[in-house]
Amino acid sequence: MNRPNPLRDPEDRRLPRIAGPCGMVIFGVTGDLARKKVMPAIYDLANRGLLPPGFSLVGFARRDWADQDFAQIVYDAVKEHARTEFREDVWKQLAEGFRFVPGSFDDDAAFEALRHTVEELDLTRGSGGNLAFYLAIPPGLFGTVATQLRKHHLADPAPGSWRRVVVEKPFGHDLASARALNATLAEVFPSGSVFRIDHYLGKETVQNILAMRFANTLFEPIWNANFVDHVQITMAEDIGIGGRAGYYDGIGAARDVIQNHLLQLMALVAMEEPTSFDAESLRIEKQKVLESVQIPRRIDLTTSRAQYAGGWQGGAKVVGFLDEEGIAPDSRTETFAAITLNVATRRWAGVPFYLRAGKRLGRRVTEVAIVFKRAPHLPFTQTATEELTQNALVIRIQPDEGMTLRFGSKVPGPSMEIRDVNMDFEYGDSFTEASPEAYERLILDVLLGDPPLFPRHEEVELSWRILDPILKYWERKGKPDTYPAGTWGPASADEMLARDGRTWRRP
Ligand code: BG6
Repeated sequence: MNRPNPLRDPEDRRLPRIAGPCGMVIFGVTGDLARKKVMPAIYDLANRGLLPPGFSLVGFARRDWADQDFAQIVYDAVKEHARTEFREDVWKQLAEGFRFVPGSFDDDAAFEALRHTVEELDLTRGSGGNLAFYLAIPPGLFGTVATQLRKHHLADPAPGSWRRVVVEKPFGHDLASARALNATLAEVFPSGSVFRIDHYLGKETVQNILAMRFANTLFEPIWNANFVDHVQITMAEDIGIGGRAGYYDGIGAARDVIQNHLLQLMALVAMEEPTSFDAESLRIEKQKVLESVQIPRRIDLTTSRAQYAGGWQGGAKVVGFLDEEGIAPDSRTETFAAITLNVATRRWAGVPFYLRAGKRLGRRVTEVAIVFKRAPHLPFTQTATEELTQNALVIRIQPDEGMTLRFGSKVPGPSMEIRDVNMDFEYGDSFTEASPEAYERLILDVLLGDPPLFPRHEEVELSWRILDPILKYWERKGKPDTYPAGTWGPASADEMLARDGRTWRRP
């Protein structure tokens, strides 16, 4: 069911988007994702009045827990990670819908128990047979769980109700495994019922790329190869891999965030105007960008990857990647990756898109910088423009959400001297509402059956098509470079841009 999209119809702007009767089953309740993101977001939605009063939440895991034990786990997660304030009345009402089903994923009896539980909830909480299954588990287990859901008649909805499945990246390890994963899910759930979470698409600032581009006259005329010199998309994190060695080793920066978050950002920046903001129209335009991407022939000269070595960060000494607990001492997994891509379209011909992502970098910042060409002629002396760089529009995704426009201005004084100045838009200054967490928006959209912010399998596969040759090249090449923790990555990344006569921004 496609609900009216608020971006499409301004009349709908103030209609509250509240989920109808439904419930959610989480597989993997003991994991980080469920604890830090999913459970707190559910509480935040309840606190904002966006969940139905009888909302039910069922945990499924191999633990000897009763409902109250599960409620305690959710309580701790909410207390620690929820965005909105804790309200006893909201919590109490929500917790009445908590159930726990113990069992392993291959345990038929446990799935029968799950079926009884959801039937009971339909009767007592009025969930109307509407259920989302959240697979907060490693992708290797998607197949087992999906098959169990089908076998125990949990996947097919009764007439008039819905069943949906939510999966998290990584959607595969390469193109072949992504296709296999998709086929597995498709055996059980029709494509419209599969919601792939790329949490970057749930971020307000990411959605604002569309608003900024297509609601204004200002930017679009210069959004092309005539004016844009290059685009830099940076996702820098100051944290290391923390307790996630098991997940990260063998995955690395490119698979972890470039394949999904950064390529999605690139698609939003580069795409043509969609005919509407419904899922299909957006997919068509994003897909065209991904299809047009060309990887430069010299992967050796146009990419860079490295691992962090020990160093200093925030005044503390930190260990290198290979010394992190749980990482194989000869691991070749990269914690930093930078790639150059070309979008072979009339709009973007000759404009490189530089994407970089890394852990233990100088600071946490995600931004898209559109760097413009220099003015064709500068009627000033060379000394007057010594401190003038290129104009740039920087979309700050996080943490200081907003936008900066950089341009040259005369320095006050008797001589003509031109220097860069910034014009800033800060979310915090312009709006009183705080931005919801990405997971709040995305979980609500799952419950509403509203798919525009979820990548389709075509996009996932096209993204792997872009990365596969690069990953293969890196694999053949062997050991990655290194960079000291707390810096902006390896020398090879700087050299990669220097070859094109450019430099990375130091955000
Ligand atoms: C996740 C990655 O998708 O995004 C993590 O798996 C990364 O490695 C995280 O730390 C960063 O998310 P955010 O929203 O803090 O930028």
